[in-house]
Amino acid sequence: MAYEHWAATYELFEGETARATWQQGIVAELRSLSNKVHRVLDLGAGTGIGGRCIREAFPEAEIFNLDYSRQMLDKGGVPKGQQLVGDMSEFSTAGDKFNFVVSGFDALNYLPKEKLYGCLCSVAKCLTDNGYLVFDYSTRKVLKYDWRKLDYINQAQDYELHRIHRYEPLFDRSKTVIKLHHAGEILWTETHYQYTIDPFTMEELARCAGLTVVRVRDIDAESFSPTTTTHIYTCCKEISS
Ligand SMILES: C[S@@+](CC[C@H](N)C(=O)[O-])C[C@H]1O[C@@H](n2cnc3c(N)ncnc32)[C@H](O)[C@@H]1O
Repeated sequence: MAYEHWAATYELFEGETARATWQQGIVAELRSLSNKVHRVLDLGAGTGIGGRCIREAFPEAEIFNLDYSRQMLDKGGVPKGQQLVGDMSEFSTAGDKFNFVVSGFDALNYLPKEKLYGCLCSVAKCLTDNGYLVFDYSTRKVLKYDWRKLDYINQAQDYELHRIHRYEPLFDRSKTVIKLHHAGEILWTETHYQYTIDPFTMEELARCAGLTVVRVRDIDAESFSPTTTTHIYTCCKEISS
């Protein structure tokens, strides 16, 4: 399964970039929305980088971390009581409510459209009235064009991480094959698939799920442009009448 093997060295390769993405995107958005960030559910939380960034800004916040990779949650040292191991495309928090649901470092891009809709429906059920869903999301520019045919290697300590990105037009998705090399050997290989939908379709899916998209902006600006790499979405669950 994706992220089963990568868990051990994920933060070595992605920690700094993921942290910067959270700070610039979701955490900045939370600061502008409210100083009352009490109960937060992080979807596709991985090693819990998002929760750590949120707690720095909101020390009182209680963070719960949902991921289908138990290895990611464990390797990140997420306490068992704050772990929810499961599929974010269909989850239940058994009546537990959150005033914020977040998802960062393109975790929602792992869901094809139908599963993303399932995820948004599950989010609507676990948000308090007037609660918010805030997430970052890689755009078509990245998945279809920048990563159309891209191979590269990152080095850290004695490891080399090879990434091969290919866009698959038949399935309208991006396939990434990741291999970790150490001392001339391949330690493991993982294959990840990512999808993207445009903001109009996202707005439609959210509305059908019971959420209103109140803002979409570029990660590095207050404005929106269709050709940026990452958008920050803010959705609100309106008070039910
Ligand atoms: C790119 S990583 C991001 C991790 C973390 N949010 C961060 O900022 O570092 C994507 C994460 O989403 C998780 N994931 C992907 N699809 C999932 C699904 N259907 N249900 C739960 N977790 C999923 C993976 O296990 C992985 O931890």
